[in-house]
Amino acid sequence: TPPAHALGRQELPVAIGHRGVPAQAPENTLASIDRAASLGIRWVENDVQRTRDGQLVVLHDTTLERTTDARQRFPGRAPWKVGDFTLAEIETLDAGSWYDRRFAGERVPTLSGYLRRIDHNHQHLLLEMKAPELYPGVEQQTVDELRRAGWLDRRHVKDRLVVQSFNATSLRTLHRLRPDLKKGFLGAPKAADLRSYAAFADQINPDHGNVTADWVRAVHALNGPHGRRLEIAAWTVDDPARAVRLGRLGVDAIISNAPHVIEAALAEE
Ligand code: G3P
Ligand code: CA
Repeated sequence: TPPAHALGRQELPVAIGHRGVPAQAPENTLASIDRAASLGIRWVENDVQRTRDGQLVVLHDTTLERTTDARQRFPGRAPWKVGDFTLAEIETLDAGSWYDRRFAGERVPTLSGYLRRIDHNHQHLLLEMKAPELYPGVEQQTVDELRRAGWLDRRHVKDRLVVQSFNATSLRTLHRLRPDLKKGFLGAPKAADLRSYAAFADQINPDHGNVTADWVRAVHALNGPHGRRLEIAAWTVDDPARAVRLGRLGVDAIISNAPHVIEAALAEE
């Protein structure tokens, strides 16, 4: 029988690699998802933004300087906003050296290259539309890109992909465009408001500090737009003891910079 939920949870919460496995490789790079794959981590999370010439790339901050050498390469271009650079410029950047010399030459991935690698690794993706308010039309564009990459076929949409955002308006737009796509709202709405989110979200994904037993019960009492119980993926948890407590509270997934450590702790429980 097919899994009842996108995450396919049966007993233990699923450990999701936050931006890959930043405990072992630079965040949001292909090296980081390969590391997740080699550790047996099935689900990874990433962050998607748009370049000046309209290409979707995988990067967390809305500026380039923390996780690339943009400051050295383009000294006159402060504050190095992602949306001020073309893809050709971004592709010249080193997205690995800041983390460790062993990762020198790692690039900022395009979304299409990232999806290809995830497919190659047989992994599952929690795709975050990061700051979509900065990138008008990014919802349609994300859908188009997913379609081109084959990620809107039944197999992917059913259990390999969730698109999440802090921006509810953006998720509602996405839901209008592709009702079949699973969506996660990043935040912890109060119980009385949850029903309005359940109209478009299959997951409610809170900062782990906001998780209580009552809140988990309130979320799990509701079904999402696909008629299944809402899921909870809590972030960002690197303390194994905390992960175990969240598991006892009933969360469905734990997003972590060290997902292999969390997975091992949960399995020992
Ligand atoms: O997946 C949840 C988490 O990634 C949200 O926060 O800032 O890491 O994108 P942030
Ligand atoms: Ca994120």
